[in-house]
Amino acid sequence: MTRILTVPTQPIEGQKPGTSGLRKKTRIFMGPHYLENFTQSVFDAIGGVQGKMLVLGGDGRYFNDRAVQVILRMAAANGAGRVVVGQGGLLSTPAASNLIRKLGADGGIILSASHNPGGIDEDFGMKFNGANGGPAPESVTDLIYARTQDLTEYHIFETADLDLSVIGESVMGDMAVEIVDPVADYAQLMGDLFDFEQIRNLFIGGFRMRVDAMHAVTGPYAKAILEEILGAPKGTVVNGTPSPDFGGGHPDPNPVWAKDLMEVMFSDNAPDFGAASDGDGDRNMIVGRGIYVTPSDSLAVLAANAHLAPAYAKGLAGIARSMPTSRAADRVAAKLGIECHETPTGWKFFGNLLDAGRVTICGEESAGTGSDHVREKDGLWAVLLWLNILARRIEPVQQIMSAHWAEYGRNYYSRHDYEAIPSERANALIQRLRDIAGDLPGQQFQGLTVESADDFAYLDPVDGSSSKGQGLRIGFSDGSRVVLRLSGTGTEGATLRVYLERYEADPTRHDLPVDEALAPVIAAAEEIALIREFTGRDAPDVTT
Ligand code: G1P
Ligand code: ZN
Repeated sequence: MTRILTVPTQPIEGQKPGTSGLRKKTRIFMGPHYLENFTQSVFDAIGGVQGKMLVLGGDGRYFNDRAVQVILRMAAANGAGRVVVGQGGLLSTPAASNLIRKLGADGGIILSASHNPGGIDEDFGMKFNGANGGPAPESVTDLIYARTQDLTEYHIFETADLDLSVIGESVMGDMAVEIVDPVADYAQLMGDLFDFEQIRNLFIGGFRMRVDAMHAVTGPYAKAILEEILGAPKGTVVNGTPSPDFGGGHPDPNPVWAKDLMEVMFSDNAPDFGAASDGDGDRNMIVGRGIYVTPSDSLAVLAANAHLAPAYAKGLAGIARSMPTSRAADRVAAKLGIECHETPTGWKFFGNLLDAGRVTICGEESAGTGSDHVREKDGLWAVLLWLNILARRIEPVQQIMSAHWAEYGRNYYSRHDYEAIPSERANALIQRLRDIAGDLPGQQFQGLTVESADDFAYLDPVDGSSSKGQGLRIGFSDGSRVVLRLSGTGTEGATLRVYLERYEADPTRHDLPVDEALAPVIAAAEEIALIREFTGRDAPDVTT
């Protein structure tokens, strides 16, 4: 017996989607009506799903499989026409974005808490992407949130679970369900963008790399594309099988959490190139033999060299970076004579610029890089673009970086995170900076003179929408900069992020230890923002 149930419910507090959808502790998502309420709110907020086509999948974390079954039953009960699901309920975020665009779907639901750990006591998340394949803009997430506040019922189909392990078509009530290979379409897209022949030759020539998939969703994609299609030796991809708790690890590709990869890349028998990706496959970490490439530098190098890959051979329309990302990419844009945009944190702000053809490449300091091929950041895409560049330039990463800095100057950069601090203290720190920002220009701190200070507000040049209160920017006359903002993705208390940057034009000073190069900027940030006093902490929890 199958039937549609209409279940009376009540609004649930706190279902406010942030920059990347709704993220909560897994047990909260598993609580009574929680997932159902949010799903119904999403459906209602987008004007219902009657007759629509949706893409559905997630990063394989704990509860992914159950949530997919619930969402399918709710989509069927709400009259959806077709849902395309990745086999096993899996889809990386960029692959989901590609599928939405390629199939002309009305949108998609991605289940992930990105780089946050997975497990019953860790994090879960759900995000809605629109027909352009990108994260829902604020206007839509506001509607979703508003709907969570007045929801009184949800609809769900009562039926047995669908077997998601077999590729093919089936039905749930009147709704078609198509289970697809999560990798195939994405692999094809990558083959269209990059010179696979040249990359294959690189591996034939003995080039070696190591990809740490961190037990997350990138594993199957990286194995298929690098090892099977491009001929990298078996074993190039490590930790390549997605597990519900990511092997007990923290699938965040940075030098702290991808420590094993860093050790290998800095050892005597390091391969030529190393990379890692996060839970849902949209972030990347790039590391050469003996050299870590910051995401801000990676964006700049990719932009400067993108023309070496077939898809970008005609050049770039423009570059966009999130506000806290270092300004290394701006120098490349200036030299290329193309548009350069500074947007608030979060990939969704790139969507309009990409849709309007104003920019081709985008990036964030938080290990996100991507282009107009999808509407999400894309970890493996960044790795493949690097490979394409390496295959053309035949130079070690170290040499590519030195040459880049010699040409453009080096933007030393670091981010300091203070995690799980009481929200009222974090808010007070930011509020105080807002209050004093107007008085800072002209003042000196640790020998640095403040040139400008504001709370970043963004006016979208495409749709004219504005986003205020996006973070404090303090610029100094020597080109250094400090940015302070509160994280929008944390699940416990507040996370204060302090972004530190210093520009150095002199090539004889491009080999300084980062901490040494940034020391005056770090000290000035402390003197201006009184971070110790407000947070009660002596040092950041995480430095990347
Ligand atoms: C963080 C990153 C941001 C990224 C977001 C989603 O947000 O800083 O660049 O877009 O995760 O992956 P935050 O926690 O800083 O708000
Ligand atoms: Zn992610």
